[in-house]
Amino acid sequence: MNGQEEWHNSPIGVFDSGVGGLTVAREIMRQLPNERIVYFGDTARVPYGNKSRETVMKYSRQIVNFLKTQEVKAIVVACNTASAYALDELEQEVDIPIIGVVRPGARAAIEATKNGRIGVIATEATISSGIYNRYIEENDNHVRIMGKACPLFVSLVEEGLWEDPVTDEIARRYLAELIDSDIDTLILGCTHYPLIRSTVGRIMGPKVTLVNPAYETARELKELLISKGLESEHRPGLGTELYRFFVSDAADKFQRFANSILTYGILSAKVIHIDEY
Ligand code: DGL
Repeated sequence: MNGQEEWHNSPIGVFDSGVGGLTVAREIMRQLPNERIVYFGDTARVPYGNKSRETVMKYSRQIVNFLKTQEVKAIVVACNTASAYALDELEQEVDIPIIGVVRPGARAAIEATKNGRIGVIATEATISSGIYNRYIEENDNHVRIMGKACPLFVSLVEEGLWEDPVTDEIARRYLAELIDSDIDTLILGCTHYPLIRSTVGRIMGPKVTLVNPAYETARELKELLISKGLESEHRPGLGTELYRFFVSDAADKFQRFANSILTYGILSAKVIHIDEY
């Protein structure tokens, strides 16, 4: 391991089943511009949202093992499904700080709601885990929560159909019961969903506040790094790559995608054999 002097300049590991976690990486880049990032997108095995807890746990462990080979100083599980199914165990197993996106998202929603009615849209796994209910009720047991799984959203996002009549139609069907409820806050409980935020926002209408947990996650990460004395003090010097991207398949597609989400061009994404970790 590096000496303490270098260790706080080590990168942050960020991972997701695919491109969704880039919405979290983008926010970390914005709020913590001095931090280096190693991003892993599990493009060969996406989606996670319809898989079992055991499988998501196994995948998440492999990714954490890979990220540790990159000497990351902290890990952000930029996937709600992996946060729901694997974070509790990973926290026990990993000797560096690790945070997910669910707790920050729950906190942001509690702050945003005025009438105490919160909706959550997420993968089937995240909804059936009841994780948002657990975190929200831990903080405020007067809030009523309404969850709705929207399994097709991940594929629509991965296909780049962010503004498309097909996405519109599917979103209208998924969101119908939430529109009829009296929620005033809706958590985008899957890191892919902020990419179709405008569609969801248009359908839900102006009275519903959309919560993207990415903002709160980056804020929590910042506080965590400061409290542990792990924040980078300055941007790494010339010749040090600020951001590195790894995937388990289809690097070109990922790269095009990342370039359309992130405000700067990524140099390249590298394919690794994640099964070997
Ligand atoms: N983006 C992920 C999440 O936040 C996973 C989507 C999926 O792979 O199903 O849940």
